[in-house]
Amino acid sequence: MNKILIDAIESHFLIIFQIEPLLIFSPGRINIIGEHTDYNEGFVFPAAIDKGIVAAIQKSKTNLCTVYAFDKDENYEFSIDGIKPLVDGDWRNYILGVVDILQEKGKKIEPFNMVFGGDIPGGAGLSSSAALENSVVYGLNELFSLNLSKKEMIYISQQAEHQYAGVKCGIMDQYASMFGQKNTGLLLDCRTINSKPFHIDFKEYQLLLINTNVKHSLSDSAYNERRSVCEKISSLLRVKALRDASEEGLLKIKEKVTEDDYQKALYVIQENKRVGLASKAMKGNDILKLGELLYQSHYGLQHQYNVSCEELDFLVEKAKDSVEIIGARMMGGGFGGCTINLIKNNSEEVINTIVKTYHEKFKIQPSVYQVNIDDGVRVLK
Ligand code: GLA
Repeated sequence: MNKILIDAIESHFLIIFQIEPLLIFSPGRINIIGEHTDYNEGFVFPAAIDKGIVAAIQKSKTNLCTVYAFDKDENYEFSIDGIKPLVDGDWRNYILGVVDILQEKGKKIEPFNMVFGGDIPGGAGLSSSAALENSVVYGLNELFSLNLSKKEMIYISQQAEHQYAGVKCGIMDQYASMFGQKNTGLLLDCRTINSKPFHIDFKEYQLLLINTNVKHSLSDSAYNERRSVCEKISSLLRVKALRDASEEGLLKIKEKVTEDDYQKALYVIQENKRVGLASKAMKGNDILKLGELLYQSHYGLQHQYNVSCEELDFLVEKAKDSVEIIGARMMGGGFGGCTINLIKNNSEEVINTIVKTYHEKFKIQPSVYQVNIDDGVRVLK
């Protein structure tokens, strides 16, 4: 964990508020496979990572809350009464959303102060927003003894995202950040919200993220549009969610929908199957098969679900060109952020080449992150 960040957040809190805070770490997540399946009540395969949000939080002595965003050097003061979403979607909405939804649920909270910072960049597809929401709900639960279960907390974080950030997200990010376990991938059933732990040890391979360092606008509206296409097709198929649909069933209504929508629904059905195949491959230590499934997942996201972008596609194409990388795909909502790569250990040369060619083409320096899979949200102190 990032000790420098933790120390900085704690000491800033002490300097500003002159009282010991509760210190919380709330991680971001990766997703091995199962993209855009969570809001279709399907399966996903995420894991929490050792990067995320550090939050220092304590009761306020006044009737106002003060929140300091360390990375942005921005301060925000608000009252917990009469909270409304801010017009501009920014970090404040994630905090306001959690506070509002807690109160809507009849949970009694009082004014609090908070300092937070993180070591995952926003827009990287690593769920910095879910990590922030979870840090707030977890911190307030501790501070005001709200007796919320972890499951209740993740639904509150998700509602904050829906109502305050305007993104009708599924439950994967909040779940992975809250329930993560060290060196473990979680095969999550997004209908029952139960997960099966898989020990992650790819032997001579490892997971590596390459961040395109781009985030194309309109990704939020495109996300919500995808979700409503899925819901529309589910109701045409008379199933609760696309998780219950089959390729054969979908074929029967093909002429009732556009080719685009047909491909999107087909992608979801196929991706959901791939998650099952990936868990089998992992159980049987078939890393090559897992890699193949990652490439297939990207193909679907690029050509069927249409949530990729030129920069992500370029990184995946370059991955395919190298024998050291046996699987790669875009990760998260799409339109930018990271690719996740299954790569042979000690392949620095390949990575350097990809970084160089990406920079030459887009004039943007990509970032490379080695992934350490770690525990979910926790109190540090
Ligand atoms: C975002 C959402 C998740 C999930 C992914 C795509 O990260 O927050 O709920 O839908 O996109 O798999």
